[in-house]
Amino acid sequence: MSGKASFGFRDVDAAEKASLVRGVFDRVASRYDLMNDLMSAGVHRIWKDMAAARLNPQPGETIVDCAGGTGDMAGRFARMARAAQLRRGGPDARIVVVDYNVEMVAAGVKRGGEPEVAWAVGDAQALPLRDGEADAYLIAFGLRNVTDIPGALAEARRVLKPGGRVALTMWGSRYHELTLLSDALEAIGRPRIPPPSAPRAMQRLKRAGFRRIERRDVELTNRFTSVDDYIDYRRGFGKPAGTARAVYERYLRAISRRAAQDADSDGRFVLGWTLTVLRAQR
Ligand SMILES: C[S@@+](CC[C@H](N)C(=O)[O-])C[C@H]1O[C@@H](n2cnc3c(N)ncnc32)[C@H](O)[C@@H]1O
Repeated sequence: MSGKASFGFRDVDAAEKASLVRGVFDRVASRYDLMNDLMSAGVHRIWKDMAAARLNPQPGETIVDCAGGTGDMAGRFARMARAAQLRRGGPDARIVVVDYNVEMVAAGVKRGGEPEVAWAVGDAQALPLRDGEADAYLIAFGLRNVTDIPGALAEARRVLKPGGRVALTMWGSRYHELTLLSDALEAIGRPRIPPPSAPRAMQRLKRAGFRRIERRDVELTNRFTSVDDYIDYRRGFGKPAGTARAVYERYLRAISRRAAQDADSDGRFVLGWTLTVLRAQR
């Protein structure tokens, strides 16, 4: 891989991006689930349940939770497949979490979980599975972190059986926080964050050879009791590797000023966003 990839506040060499992304998630691994829960009374649970329902796990299936972090989605898949198994019978499902960050995987293993879940430290671009071994594949909020996106999608296709399902979740078109963070970056003289594009992701799926591509958007709202609460939540993600502390603090102050513009008269801060779930078939 060569060329530039986008990371945090600056463009980096593609090779460097992988280690920078890994660095961010190393630091947040043990706090990741807690952060998710603090994110406004578990709003993330709503989209996670919905994305899992879109993938529709079945007994006996092998399902890949790629870039699966601490395995939150994998646990859902296991429970859903088991519920179907109790109703109709059939063999156990097998859910494989693949994440290239050892800290995320270790945090997931330590938390324990469903017996159907297996863990692998591995790369989305070189999955530790045989050709056609999987029935379904999910990548939730992970594709944008991957250095070679077409390579990762080709890899998803390789491990899926013909007719296998793929699901992908990403920030949708109305992503208030993205605008807010971009405004803050601009205020400190940095480039804005490239907006996510569902049509581009759909194109990529098509180019990777997937068919019957469907898109679903959900509107969600995260509520913070104050701008300070929101800033604490943002701090939880850690300072991007390679960013000077002083620049990072300026950025947080710019976010705080920008968020204050959107706070209501009681100081509460509401973050509205759209989640996009794409589903397709091999
Ligand atoms: C925002 S987290 C999402 C975690 C989980 N899918 C969820 O929705 O809670 C992104 C994850 O992608 C992982 N990741 C980034 N690039 C990866 C790659 N090339 N291969 C495997 N995992 C990767 C990170 O380690 C991190 O755990």
